[in-house]
Amino acid sequence: MLACALAALVACTVSLLATAVPIARLFAPIADCVEDQRGFKYLDDRDLINFVDGTENPRGTERVAAVLVPSGTYAGGTHLLIQTYLDRQAEWNALTIEDQEGVIGRTKFDDIEIPDAEKKPFAHNVKSKVEIDGTEIKMFRQNRAIGTAKEHGTMFVGFAAEASTLTTSLRQMITADADGNYDHLLDFVTATTGAMYFVPPQAFLDAMTG
Ligand code: HEM
Repeated sequence: MLACALAALVACTVSLLATAVPIARLFAPIADCVEDQRGFKYLDDRDLINFVDGTENPRGTERVAAVLVPSGTYAGGTHLLIQTYLDRQAEWNALTIEDQEGVIGRTKFDDIEIPDAEKKPFAHNVKSKVEIDGTEIKMFRQNRAIGTAKEHGTMFVGFAAEASTLTTSLRQMITADADGNYDHLLDFVTATTGAMYFVPPQAFLDAMTG
């Protein structure tokens, strides 16, 4: 499973087959490839609900700190959550642009964050944001568009130094607050697969293989 996840991830980020085929061949003796999903970059980094996806990602050293386990045996490793979501396109398209922006918490065309005071409490960027004691804990998302004109969606690909950053974000999305506000993006997408992986650091793998 790990091999397949990594193959899928690399396949959607670099030159597709040139990388995925050798990786699949390398792992063939020890792992079956159970899923082979082709992701692609769409327009100006939009997902297929047509919003720019990845804007609030950490950059530079902040990204390194968000993604890599900082110390100990697994220093340099990371946690990886992969989930496939299919868009409920007809229902999404039936919303006005203003209502779509309320669901995401950003403007559609120019990708500006809606001011906190005006954001809907059920907005995706309200419910997915992780904070501990007032400090935001970032993850790094490398989502990819997937599918065809008929059936399409998003492969969520998220990395974090702590697995709990990913699980907390998901839990907040699906759990309603006291006023019933869960993440309304979930009304317009259907999760079809999902798994969490630990990606060990190179040094750990080298030690295992001698
Ligand atoms: C169909 C699936 C999803 C779609 C289409 C989607 C799309 C988006 C978009 C358009 C944004 C705003 C732009 C940006 O900052 O990237 C965003 C932000 C974000 N999403 Fe998602 N997302 C999906 C699933 C998830 C999942 C499953 C998680 C968590 C496990 C997640 C976590 C986040 C976080 C943490 C932010 C940044 C919030 C902020 O600080 O402003 N998303 N997503």
